[in-house]
Order: sequence, then C-alpha cells, then structure tokens
Amino acid sequence: MDLKEMIREIPDFPEKGVLFRDVTTLLKDGEGLCAAVDLIQKELEGVEFDAVLGPESRGFIFGMPVAYNLKKGFIPVRKKGKLPAEVISREYALEYGTATIEIHKDAIHPGMKLVVIDDLMATGGTARALVDLIQEAGAEVVKLVFLIELDDLKGREVLEGYDISSVLHY
Ligand code: PRP
Ligand code: ADE
Repeated sequence: MDLKEMIREIPDFPEKGVLFRDVTTLLKDGEGLCAAVDLIQKELEGVEFDAVLGPESRGFIFGMPVAYNLKKGFIPVRKKGKLPAEVISREYALEYGTATIEIHKDAIHPGMKLVVIDDLMATGGTARALVDLIQEAGAEVVKLVFLIELDDLKGREVLEGYDISSVLHY
C-alpha cells in the first residue's frame, strides 16, 4: 500500500508558500489508517517506555491507538488554555505561526521514560518545545516517532541527540 498516495497536498494552506500535507485523506481509509498506526508502532519495537505524549490535535489521532495497543498511558499535550489543572507551558514557532503548548504539571514525573508521537515534523518547533517541557519536568524522551517528516525543513537539526524515526519522508 502506498501511503504517500493517500496523503493529499494542498498548496498555500494555511498561508502562502506552505504545501500542506493533509492526512485526513489517509485517515478516512480503514486500511490506510491501520497501516499508518502499525508502521508508527513498529518503530517502537524494543523501546522501553512508560507513556506516549501526543500534541494536539493530530498527535492525538496517531498517538492514542499506539498507546492503547501497547497498554501504555497517553498524555495529551494541549494548546494554551485547554487543560483544567496546573500546567507547565512553552511558546514555540512552527512552519506557520506561533503557539503555546501545555501539559498538566502532575502528568509527568522525574525518571519517566516517554515517547512522543505526532503526524508530522516540519521545522521541529513543536517537538523541540515538547522535549524542553519534558526535560523541565525531569523526565526523559526515549524516542520521537512521526508519520511524516519534511526533510527540507531540517527539524532533526533542532532535535540533535534525540532518537527520531519517521515512516514517510518528503
Ligand atoms: C502541526 C503538526 C505538528 C506541527 C509540526 O500541528 O501536527 O504538530 O504542526 O510543525 P513544526 O515541526 O514546524 O512544529 P498544528 O500546530 O498545525 O496543529 P493541529 O494538529 O491541531 O493541526
Ligand atoms: N505542520 C507543519 N507544517 C505542515 C505541513 N506542511 N503540512 C501539514 N502539517 C504541517
């Protein structure tokens, strides 16, 4: 199955110059969805960890089924103002604009081994903000897995030293 063929490209969304990789066309296909989740999960074979973190909102879609399959916890990383209890937060820049992500302060404990799952890495801004937050909480990021990596945007360079796997490269 060619997953790339199932991912739609939308030029100039959400702003001029961005070629948006739209995974909704993959998600609506049962076999495509299963293959994408299975391939992300395969990257975690042999990795020991306590929980999956997924950034809102596409990180929820791919992170949750993997956490469920592996009987691990899932920690939602949300955009500013959505989490009800005390949070730790970080502002960051992504391919289009800026945002702030937050995690519940009591969701992560020192010594925890965490895996980050998201649909796509572009500049790596979102992932960098996330690993910084996790580090601030005293926990360890043992691996980051993306369905898609946009190689030209060099996200890996801002995540030097971290173990990163991506299923598809553009
Ligand atoms: C997208 C994507 C990643 C991030 C990647 O999320 O799902 O989380 O951008 O870009 P970066 O590597 O340049 O940081 P977005 O913030 O658009 O939110 P969404 O999942 O709710 O659409
Ligand atoms: N998030 C950041 N850059 C993106 C892109 N080009 N397509 C889809 N999601 C993105």
